[in-house]
Amino acid sequence: MKLAWNKTRFMKSALWPEEYPKISHHSSQIAICGRSNVGKSSLINELCANNSLAKTSKTPGKTQLLNFFEIDEKLVFVDLPGYGFAKVPERVQKDWGKIITNFLENAPQLALILFLLDIRRTPNKEDLEFLHWLNHYQIPFILVLTKADKVTKNELAACQKEILSQLPYEGFEVLVHSSKTHQGTIDLRKMIEAYATT
Ligand code: GTP
Ligand code: MG
Repeated sequence: MKLAWNKTRFMKSALWPEEYPKISHHSSQIAICGRSNVGKSSLINELCANNSLAKTSKTPGKTQLLNFFEIDEKLVFVDLPGYGFAKVPERVQKDWGKIITNFLENAPQLALILFLLDIRRTPNKEDLEFLHWLNHYQIPFILVLTKADKVTKNELAACQKEILSQLPYEGFEVLVHSSKTHQGTIDLRKMIEAYATT
C-alpha cells in the first residue's frame, strides 16, 4: 500500500485495551518499541516528516503511555513506552510487562513491529527478553539500528555485525537509520508500505 506520509494526527494515549482508540478495519497497526531513549518517538516523527507529532526528549522515560498516531487514515503507529529506565513512576514500571503483553495480545490489526536498538550498544538482557516475546507471539518485526549518525561509516558495519551476533534469532529484516541525517527513512517507509494491507 502506497502512503503519502503527510496526513498525520495524534489519536490517543492509553494504557489498557479498553482505553485503546477504535481503529478502522481498513487500517494496519505498527508498533515501535525498544529501550528508553533509543529514538522511538523521533523515528515516528522522521517517517512522517513532522517533528511536532510525537514528543521527544533528551531525558529517558519521556513516553510512558501507549501513544496512537494515525497516518493517511490507513496506518496506525503505536509508540510504546520504553523499557530500561529506572525513573519512570513505580506503577508504570511494575505494570510495564503487563501493559505490553496486553497490547500484543489485543491488537488484531498489528501487522509489524519496529524493534529499535541503538547502533552503538550491544543488546542487553531486557532487549533480548523483548525479542523473545516477539518470537513467542510470532509477530513480524524489522530491526532498526538507530542513531547511525553517531558512528563513522567504518564503524557502522562492525557495530551491526556485533549486534546481530548477540541476537538468538535470524532471518528478519535489518535497517540502519538516523533521524538526524534521514539515512534509511525512504527505505523504511517502503518496507512499512509492504507490510501494511490495502
Ligand atoms: P522514551 O520516550 O524515553 O522511551 O525515548 P524514545 O525512544 O522515544 O527516544 P526519543 O525519540 O525521545 O529520543 C531520545 C533522544 O535521542 C533525543 O534527544 C533525540 O533527539 C535523540 N535521537 C533520536 N534519534 C536520533 C538519531 O537518529 N540521531 C541522533 N544523533 N540523536 C537521536
Ligand atoms: Mg518516546
